Amino acid sequence: MLMEGPIGIFDSGYGGLTVLEDIQKRLPQYDYLYLGDNARAPYGTRSFEVIYEYTLQAVEELFDRGCHLVILACNTASAKALRTIQQNDLKRIAPGKKVLGVIRPSTELIGSYSRSKELGILATEGTVISNSYVIELQKFFPDCKVHQQACPIWVPLIENNEHGTDEGKAFIRQDIERLLRKSPNIDTILLGCTHYPLIKEEIEKIVPASIKVIAQGQIVAESLQSYLDRHPEIETKCSREGKLSFFTSENTLLFDNNAARFTSFDIKSTHVDLSKR
Ligand code: DGL
Repeated sequence: MLMEGPIGIFDSGYGGLTVLEDIQKRLPQYDYLYLGDNARAPYGTRSFEVIYEYTLQAVEELFDRGCHLVILACNTASAKALRTIQQNDLKRIAPGKKVLGVIRPSTELIGSYSRSKELGILATEGTVISNSYVIELQKFFPDCKVHQQACPIWVPLIENNEHGTDEGKAFIRQDIERLLRKSPNIDTILLGCTHYPLIKEEIEKIVPASIKVIAQGQIVAESLQSYLDRHPEIETKCSREGKLSFFTSENTLLFDNNAARFTSFDIKSTHVDLSKR
């Protein structure tokens, strides 16, 4: 018998809630199960091996909870773990189930937003070092030049609500200026980390008005809709009661309180211990 299940949305922490909001707005008919590995975040400065191991544990958890489709709503996990999970693990752990990331949908579109054909990417250290954005963009927009800037301190600043302090603002400004110094021709900046949409307005105040600042949520939502349209074998396995549930590897009260800064969803989360898998 075919058991339908929610669509799994995974992030290292709170940032994926910004993506879930856009997905849920566009596709409210489906059920979603959000999992944040807050106890082990941030992922951005961790090694390839560790990010892969943690992401695989999270994906297995979501599959065990009935998901047939999991979105890695985390650029760092998408950059460092997605390909190996898709190519090596899926057929072993869950044949027929699918895992998608956020980098491919972003790179399929972002080049078309730029007139100068010079793009800026702000992301975690892990995402930048992986070079995934540069490699993927080359496939879809070979005429585009990509300038990347790692912002290793932004996720901790945002998670700890310190991005609005004088020190926090100075760090943010410094990284943006570093990116802009790489080329005067950058006309489009992609926020290549799910946490950054939270400070989009602050970023827009720092960059010249002529530069477009793009968050990923709507791009990912649109791409998911198109994926479900093209893959009825997965779509028919997605349950449709419009329900949301939230899981975290952290203390649930802490998660529920902090999550309120990232989303307007009313959250009562459940604890999971991913390290015991
Ligand atoms: N949310 C992750 C991303 O989009 C970064 C957060 C982290 O470093 O854990 O890259």
